[in-house]
Order: sequence, then structure tokens, then C-alpha cells
Amino acid sequence: MILQEIQREYRYLPCEALKATAEALDVPLSKVFSVATFYNAFSLVPKGKRIVRICTGTACHIRGAALIQDQIENHLGIKAGQTTSDMEFSIEVVACVGACAMAPVVIVNEKYHGGVKVNTAKKILKDS
Ligand code: FES
Repeated sequence: MILQEIQREYRYLPCEALKATAEALDVPLSKVFSVATFYNAFSLVPKGKRIVRICTGTACHIRGAALIQDQIENHLGIKAGQTTSDMEFSIEVVACVGACAMAPVVIVNEKYHGGVKVNTAKKILKDS
């Protein structure tokens, strides 16, 4: 819960915050660090204001997730796993997010977009 709040506030887990958490909880920094690096939801590097998650699970893959990923990467000028230099967008590729009926799915922060088409991917970014 503490790390989730830090992640939400800073959009990543700064080293100083990990140290402060370890001190506050009176646990070794290595324990806090191991939790921070275990879960994909946490990041040790700064993320963009808007995190674009592209589902590449089986249903989304079959319905063109790779083309949508190409479109979004080309539009933002970054690849999955990267953040734009203005810190506005980060792209992540994720496994099935449990919304297969809506495939292909793109999630911007907490908002799910289903039935995404190559020609609507840019609009999702613009409207986010
Ligand atoms: S495969 Fe994309 S939501 Fe399930």
C-alpha cells in the first residue's frame, strides 16, 4: 500500500522514497527493493503522465494488436518500454488484461479502450 501510494504520487519509486519506506517500516532496504522490483506495477524509472498499455494477449494479438502497437509507437516516436522526452507518454506491452471480448484493447492510465483499430489509435492518445 505504501509503495502503491508512492508510485501513484511520483509515477515511479524514487530511491529516496524506498530508503524512507525501509526506515519507517524498520525493515532492510533490500526487502523493500525486492518488493519494488518483483511487481510489474512498480517502476524504478520515471514514467510519463499517461501510460499507454497495449494488450498483446492471444485475443488482442489475433485482432491486430501488433499493428496498433506499431501505429502508437510511430505516432509517439518511442518503442514499448520507453517514455517520451516530454514525459507525457510511456508505452507498455501487457499480457491479457481480462477484457478479451473487447479485443484489441488499449488502456490509457485507468481507461480501457476496446475494439481499437489502427486508424483510431491516434485518436485515443489525443483524447486521453
Ligand atoms: S487478450 Fe487482450 S484482453 Fe485478453
